[in-house]
Order: sequence, then structure tokens, then C-alpha cells
Amino acid sequence: MKVLGIETSCDESAAAVIEDGHRLLSNAVASSMDLHAKYGGVIPEIAARSHIEAILPVIQQALDDAQCTWDDIDAIAVTYGAGLGGSLLVGVLTARTLAIAHDKPLYAINHVAAHIYANFLTSTSLPGLVMRQSQPSFPMLAIIVSGGHSQLVLFRDHFDYTLLGQTQDDAIGEAFDKVAKIIGLPYPGGPNVEKIAQLGDAYAFKLPKAKMAEKYDFSFSGLKTAVLRLAQAQIGEDYTFPSTKLPERLSEAQKANIAASFSRTAVETMVDKVLLAIEEFSPTSVVIAGGVAASGELRKQLTSKLPLPIEFPDFKLCTDNGAMIATLGYFKASLGQPAANPYTLDIEPNLSM
Ligand code: KG4
Ligand code: ZN
Repeated sequence: MKVLGIETSCDESAAAVIEDGHRLLSNAVASSMDLHAKYGGVIPEIAARSHIEAILPVIQQALDDAQCTWDDIDAIAVTYGAGLGGSLLVGVLTARTLAIAHDKPLYAINHVAAHIYANFLTSTSLPGLVMRQSQPSFPMLAIIVSGGHSQLVLFRDHFDYTLLGQTQDDAIGEAFDKVAKIIGLPYPGGPNVEKIAQLGDAYAFKLPKAKMAEKYDFSFSGLKTAVLRLAQAQIGEDYTFPSTKLPERLSEAQKANIAASFSRTAVETMVDKVLLAIEEFSPTSVVIAGGVAASGELRKQLTSKLPLPIEFPDFKLCTDNGAMIATLGYFKASLGQPAANPYTLDIEPNLSM
């Protein structure tokens, strides 16, 4: 069974073809990131316009790379939320039109849940990807760490899950992006903070970890503010000093130490709760999902601290892509979940797990 996945929730126009829920046949991505970088974040109108231009060529690329024609495709899966309204609309309207024109069943996919399904891909015909050896087993603890979400979710089986906890303010990726701004690194912050952190001392500074009322909830906004105060203190200024002027006053060594200490602390905050959840729920697998799953610091801490082995998806499958959408679409189709109506499927920008 071959599923075409379509993803346009943020700034990536992406499409991929997946076979039997585990084999990646193509993974086409066109990003409008360069257009947003100069503004320091994604501009929704620019993203939506870029999707309109990119989506059909990207879908064709995904079909060509997978050596498929429409006859070979058994179902279409598309992200309908969460995400930017204008961006989601382009993907959903495209998928609806294609489903009607080519008479294919259409599956509506939750973007955040789909990130988890990047872990179910175990083989590929594409060069340069490091795939997992096996699919995760249930019960499975999913650590969702993206620009918009930080959540711990316990899956007893496909489509049978409990949200254990989530961030009460900023998502972890958002915190990476904001800290990047404080120390003058361009958007997207995560990979840039990671790069400079490698030159710094992760124990140079002690930063706070928020104490939450609910055991599995998180908070990252206090940590971000603590980084701002630390940066101001490092140059001998107080809290009134404008954050926009910090980058020119901080030395490269100070920036690297701030990045490394922040990165370690943010990741520890997540991993501490993961360890608690493992103790309480005894999952047989732990998976990471979302853009911050590309973090080397997160992978390092999980590998060294978890009491069970963990496998990671390829870096290319951690940021937004069509492959994860197609994979969840496969499981929906093969496990009898209802298909969407291609004449009425609407977007849900605020969709949650
Ligand atoms: O899942 P994603 O691609 O988009 C959302 O659905 O949010 O996640 C993007 C987030 C950004 O905040 C980005 O800074 C972060 O993932 N990110 C990283 C790394 N690569 C991307 N954060 C830390 N370390 C990385 N290597
Ligand atoms: Zn995402």
C-alpha cells in the first residue's frame, strides 16, 4: 500500500510517498525559510504564498522520486492542523482536489501526532538517510518537542493515548529560538544554538528548572527570561538593558557558554520528566518527535540516562516533512480509521493531541 503525504502547516511545502507504513520511497521538501530569516521568524502571508507556488511541483517531485504514477497511489494523507491557517489551507485544498480528481481516499492528519510517526519508518530507497532498525513497541512514551509543542504522551496502542503533560507557556523549540535572538543568532534558532553550544561549557552557568504543580507539565518561559538576565549580567548591565543590543556586547565565549548552559538545562528539564514517566508507566519504547528531536544534546542525554535503549529518526525526518504525514495516514487507512470527506474537510489551526 502506497500513501502520498502532504504537509504545509508552517514554512515547509513537503510531500512524500511511503510504502506499507515503514518504507520511505521519496521525501520532497521546499522550504521558504530563507524568505523568513531576515524577519527573525515565519511570516504567515509569505509562507502561504510560497506554498501556492511550491506545492504542486513538490508533489510531482515526490511521485517522480518514488517512481510512481497516480495509479500506484492508494491514499492521500494531508495535515489539517495544527499550524498557520493560510498555510494549512493550501495543503488541504490541494489534497482535497487531488483526492477527488484521482478518486483516492483522503486522510486528515494531526501534524503533532504525525511527528511521532517518523519513528515508524525503518527502510528507504533514498541515499544518505540513517533509518531506525525497528518500529517502536507499545506501550510507547512519546516526547514531543517542536517549535509549537512540548508534550509527553503515553500510547497504549495506535490511536489509544493519554496526554501526560505539556508546556504551560513556551514550547522548547520556541525557547531555543528566543535564546538564539538574545545571543544574536539567526532564525531558526535551534540548530544555530546547538552549533555554538558545542564551543561552550554546558556547566558554565546554573539556570533554573521550573517547578510545576502537575508532575508532567513543563514551563520554558522562566528559563528564557533567566537567560536574558544572565546575558545582561555578563556585560555588567541590569534588566533595563535592551535585549536587541546584547549580541554586540557579548563575547563569542560568553555566547557559547550561555548557549551550552541553556541547551543542557532545557533538555534536562524534559529528560527529568521522561525518567519519572518511565518509572511510573514502564513503557517498552521511548520515541522523540518534532524539530527539537534533531538536538544532539537531547539525543546525548536520552542515550546516557534512559534505562531502556532508544532509536532516533533521521535528522531529515525530525523537521516538518511529508513522510511522517504519509506514515500516520497509512496506519489510519490500514487500521480502519475513517477517511475524510474530500468535499468538506476543513483546517483546524489550533488542533491539539
Ligand atoms: O517541528 P518543527 O520543525 O516545527 C514545528 O512544528 O514547530 O520544529 C521547529 C523547531 C524550531 O523551534 C527549531 O529551532 C527547533 O525545532 N530545532 C532545534 C534543532 N533543530 C530544529 N532545536 C534544537 N536543536 C536542534 N538541532
Ligand atoms: Zn512540526
